[in-house]
Order: sequence, then C-alpha cells, then structure tokens
Amino acid sequence: MKHLLKLLDLSTEEIIDILNLADQLKYELKHGIPHPHLKGKTLGMIFQKASTRTRVSFETGMYQLGGYPLFLSSNDLQIGRGEPVQDTARVLSRYLDGIMIRTFEQSEVENLAEFGNIPIINGLTDFCHPCQVLADLMTIREFKGSFDGLKMCFIGDGNNMANSLIVGGLKVGMSVSIACPDDYQPPKEILEFAAQYGDKFQMTNSPMEAAKGADVLYTDVWASMGQEGEAEKRKKAFAGYQINDELMAVANNEAMVLHCLPAHREEEITNKVFEEHANEIFEEAENRLHAQKAVMVKLMA
Ligand code: CP
Ligand code: NVA
Repeated sequence: MKHLLKLLDLSTEEIIDILNLADQLKYELKHGIPHPHLKGKTLGMIFQKASTRTRVSFETGMYQLGGYPLFLSSNDLQIGRGEPVQDTARVLSRYLDGIMIRTFEQSEVENLAEFGNIPIINGLTDFCHPCQVLADLMTIREFKGSFDGLKMCFIGDGNNMANSLIVGGLKVGMSVSIACPDDYQPPKEILEFAAQYGDKFQMTNSPMEAAKGADVLYTDVWASMGQEGEAEKRKKAFAGYQINDELMAVANNEAMVLHCLPAHREEEITNKVFEEHANEIFEEAENRLHAQKAVMVKLMA
C-alpha cells in the first residue's frame, strides 16, 4: 500500500491490518505508552474545504507519532492561484514525507499521487472519505466484537460517505443496504463494485426497507460541502430520509447509530436518536485519530 486514495484500492487484508494497528495505537495512547513511529517526519495537510475532525486529528496524531504536521490552507498555497497540482506534487515531494489532502475532485488526489513520490492520503473528496470509514469500521468492531453477520444500512445521499461505506462495509464482510432517493444514487463505479457481492448489497428508496434488521444505521448531511446552494432543493428531496424512532423500531435490538459529523439535527437524524447514541457517535469521532495514525504509520514509517 503506497497511498490511501480510496478504499476501492485496498484489499480486505490491508483494511484489517490498519484496523488492528489502530486498536493497538489506541491502547498505547490510553496507557501512556510512547509510539514515536514517525519521529522526524513531516506531513503536509492541504485543505480546500473546511474541517474540524480531520484537521485536528491528523495534526494531533502526527504530533503523537513524533512527527511534525504542517497545515496548508489552499487560500495561502499557490494552488489557490492556479498552480497545477502536478507541479505542487513534485515540489512538495522534495520537502515532505507525506501529504493529506481534502479537496473536491477525486482526480486531484489521484494526480498528486501520480506526479509526486511521497504517500498521499485522501482526507475527503466529493467521491469518497476513506479515513472516515476506516474509523467507522474500527468503531463497529469495537462495539460489536466482529463484522460477522452484521448488516449496515446507510440512509440519505449517495455521496462520498455512502460510497466509502459501501466499499468498506462489503470488503470486511458485512451486508450493506442503502436507502436514497432515485436522483441521488451512488455513482456507477460504486454500484458496479457492489454488484459483485450479490444479495449482500441492497439499494432501495425506502428507508424502512433498508433499515429492517440492521445492526448499524448510518447517515450524513443532505447537503455536503460545496452543495450549500442546493440546500433547499435537497431538503425537499430528502424529506423522510431520516434516522428516527420509527426507523430504529425496525432495526435490530441493540443496533448502533453512527454519523460522520457534522450533524444537522432534525434533518437526517432526530435529536433524540442522536443523543441516545452519542456514546457511539463520539467514540467514532475519536477513532478518526487512531485510525489515521495507523494509516500514517503504514504509509510513512
Ligand atoms: N467527519 C469529518 O470529516 O469531519 P470534518 O469535516 O470536521 O473533518
Ligand atoms: N458528505 C459530507 C461529509 C462531511 C464529513 C461532506 O462532504 O460535506
């Protein structure tokens, strides 16, 4: 594994290896055991979109590993003034040991990897959010013990989160169902991948049907970063695609609820369900730190 560009590139073994290392690093942090695997290394973090979790967890994580993180806002980089990503990649490869990038187009992340010669980590694009889903899988395994026989269901937009959850969930052996409006389905590439898994994958426009018997319910905002202008249109399209008590009633007893955050309460999830599952949701947010540290160690140590 040279980069983390999207989960489609990773084998099941590579995903499980990252999760195992993440568990170990979490244990070490909680028990005050130093783990300076990246002593003297630097990570550039390029942000073309806002972030709370990704920025702070990468920055702290790099520090905990003995390395040095550099926050690089695209407003300040020459990228923001049109310098091509191919040139930026070749320059930054000569200064840094790794780059994390959050941007719009998946092709930008793929280009950085192609033209640079240091590991590239995708910190979210419009296509996918692999770091988030590694933390999600870590959290599911932590709460449920294993992935065997679990059904995960995603309610809402067939967006970057849905894409990575479908790929990650199926690769580790869960059944995955998704409920989304017809006009907001995941892209063809993801549906073709999922089709290989036969009836372990289900797509419907009925949230009730998708949630039936689910062990993990997941949702995300109706309007992602960059889609703010469509917020009103999306509110109409997604009405009913909400995790609420009625939906929880058809899921398995003991079902867990996850959300990548930030959440819009009373839109994609009710405040009540959110607060009843806050322990899972905030453990999930914490696990971003541990999962990403594992990714950095795998790629940069
Ligand atoms: N879930 C997530 O990636 O959060 P941020 O946008 O705050 O980084
Ligand atoms: N789908 C959301 C995820 C945020 C972590 C977005 O892209 O804004």
